[in-house]
Amino acid sequence: STEELHERIRAAKQTLGDRVVILGHFYQRDEIVQHADFLGDSFQLANAAQTVPNAEAIVFCGVHFMAETADILAKPEQAVILPNLAAGCSMADMADIDSVEECWAQLEALYGTEPDADGRVPVIPVTYMNSSAALKGFCGRHGGIVCTSSNAETVLEWAFERGRRVLFFPDQHLGRNTAKKMGVPLERMPMWNPRKPLGGSSGDELLDARVILWHGFCSVHKRFSVEQIEQARAEHPGVRVIVHPECPMPVVDAADEAGSTDYIRKAVAAATEPTTFAIGTEINMVNRLAAEFPQHTIFCLDPVVCPCSTMYRIHPGYLAWVLEGLVAREVLNRIEVPETVAEDARVALERMLDAKP
Ligand code: 13P
Ligand code: SF4
Repeated sequence: STEELHERIRAAKQTLGDRVVILGHFYQRDEIVQHADFLGDSFQLANAAQTVPNAEAIVFCGVHFMAETADILAKPEQAVILPNLAAGCSMADMADIDSVEECWAQLEALYGTEPDADGRVPVIPVTYMNSSAALKGFCGRHGGIVCTSSNAETVLEWAFERGRRVLFFPDQHLGRNTAKKMGVPLERMPMWNPRKPLGGSSGDELLDARVILWHGFCSVHKRFSVEQIEQARAEHPGVRVIVHPECPMPVVDAADEAGSTDYIRKAVAAATEPTTFAIGTEINMVNRLAAEFPQHTIFCLDPVVCPCSTMYRIHPGYLAWVLEGLVAREVLNRIEVPETVAEDARVALERMLDAKP
């Protein structure tokens, strides 16, 4: 039964003591969140992985790219464990290293590689945290950087100081929403199209580009719509609409605010008057906020519910299994990024951790 599973998790955690730290993303289901030592958004969890003191294992309750990042940033002797190896991210899978290399070769052919008079290179690659370690490594090797949804603007500023334009992957929406907020006009944000060779009209478009977008998206956040926001406003006058910047641009524009999962949490926690919130992000997090802040009315913009199906794959049964493995001195489901990749990826991640607003 579920209660037995929780009992097993608690018992294993107690036996392990400081040997293990459990990190959990805000999108995890409640049955997992209750066992996490630290809960956060993807930026906070990357920081946490780097600063976990003496634990010999970090059990990462989140998705694959987050566990890879934790492995890159944690101490070499610390094992990072992903309780279910099938917990991937469909957005991260939308950019693979071969396509990015191909795109890069085309951009180099178009723009050259020489810095301008101000020392700015033609293109800086920026990868969203939601990407494989190989892509973070690519950014590290090519003067680029990683961003998360909580620091995308700071990171784009960092990139524009060093480059005339940015290649942003995999999430077109985060790239577009952030660049738009910074005043980049839409016509200067073309989308790289692998099937349309450069040159001709698309070449002109690219010559003028400030941000070249990739075609990726999050299947959870792309479900939110302007109609849902209009309906929420009609049914709940005075409602505060907050959405995640992985939502399409018209949705972000129609909302009152957009921000990372941590931003959304803090906005709700900071409201002093009873408020109605319509939230555009993953349902497990929205339901938890509703339970945690009963003085407010909090609901998800999508009435049909939208869980992240891969986050949901971290089930308490897997958590119990990997923890009991550690008790028996067996490391199960270890995520290990080869050092050749990790070395470059760490460069890009540390640029992000050092970039201050
Ligand atoms: P944040 O944790 O940066 O808010 O990102 C949300 C997300 O989609 C993680 O996969
Ligand atoms: Fe990936 Fe979207 Fe799930 Fe985040 S919410 S892990 S971006 S599929």
